[in-house]
Amino acid sequence: MQQAPALPADAPIGVFDSGLGGLSVLRSLRQTLPEEDFIYLADSGFAPYGERGDDFVRERSLRIAAELFDRGAKAVVVACNTATTAAIQALRARWPQAVLVGVEPALKPAALATRTGQVGVLATRGTLQSDKFRQLLDLHGAGARFHCVACDGLVAAIEAFDRDRVSALIRQFTQTCLASGTAAAPVDTLVLGCTHYPLVEAQIGGCAGPSVRLLDTGLPVARQTRRLLEARQALRRTDGSEGSGKVGLGKVVWQTTGEPERLNRAVAQWLQWAEAGSETCQALMA
Ligand code: DGL
Repeated sequence: MQQAPALPADAPIGVFDSGLGGLSVLRSLRQTLPEEDFIYLADSGFAPYGERGDDFVRERSLRIAAELFDRGAKAVVVACNTATTAAIQALRARWPQAVLVGVEPALKPAALATRTGQVGVLATRGTLQSDKFRQLLDLHGAGARFHCVACDGLVAAIEAFDRDRVSALIRQFTQTCLASGTAAAPVDTLVLGCTHYPLVEAQIGGCAGPSVRLLDTGLPVARQTRRLLEARQALRRTDGSEGSGKVGLGKVVWQTTGEPERLNRAVAQWLQWAEAGSETCQALMA
């Protein structure tokens, strides 16, 4: 078998999403891989992906990954469930030797965690209608009953920082999901199947109540990224100099196809990190 080419350990990790949602994955990536540099690319100018067709999402994903590799990324994390379901196969076919990590709704952990056997899934319409999601349900469907709700409009409301609409939609979708359980077997586990939703997890948790466990995949995705880079000896662990120890916290380059101020605001509001200094990614604007 042909050996995979060496990867430059000091190169950044590219992370993209249809917009701001991938920040929830970036938070876990930075927690797991603090010394790495990242390029975060928010395709906010073309969000939401979940209510567009697969072809559109695949084409955007291929262009964004190409841009990230052109900028020297040693790995690309598709921090979007919708883009993963629509495009991960095409990405792997186009870059067979690359480290590519996708995200998918946490059905398996949910089937293991539920005590009542009733699991709610909140996700975009694109994710829920995909073949990949159906396969995931077939794989884990025996472990629990999954009640899926397509949360139309929620990504757009989060992208717009529209608090009232976010609250109203969360109430509506969470209640719909919980209503599918019964008094004897209530929904006790809720899968956040879109990376935007962990950003408003407190509100979802507030609606669902303390007896419902919320699950997302930020940390497992970060650990998988670390494993894959480790296997390729491409982790940026040390500075390579004599007696080298850990390098400091890596930096993040912020790129967006939407308004840079919105990405800055999201980083401050949801990650509480210092000012982002986002820039428009001209190459992906058309
Ligand atoms: N964060 C994306 C996901 O995980 C949202 C997709 C969208 O833009 O609708 O699915």
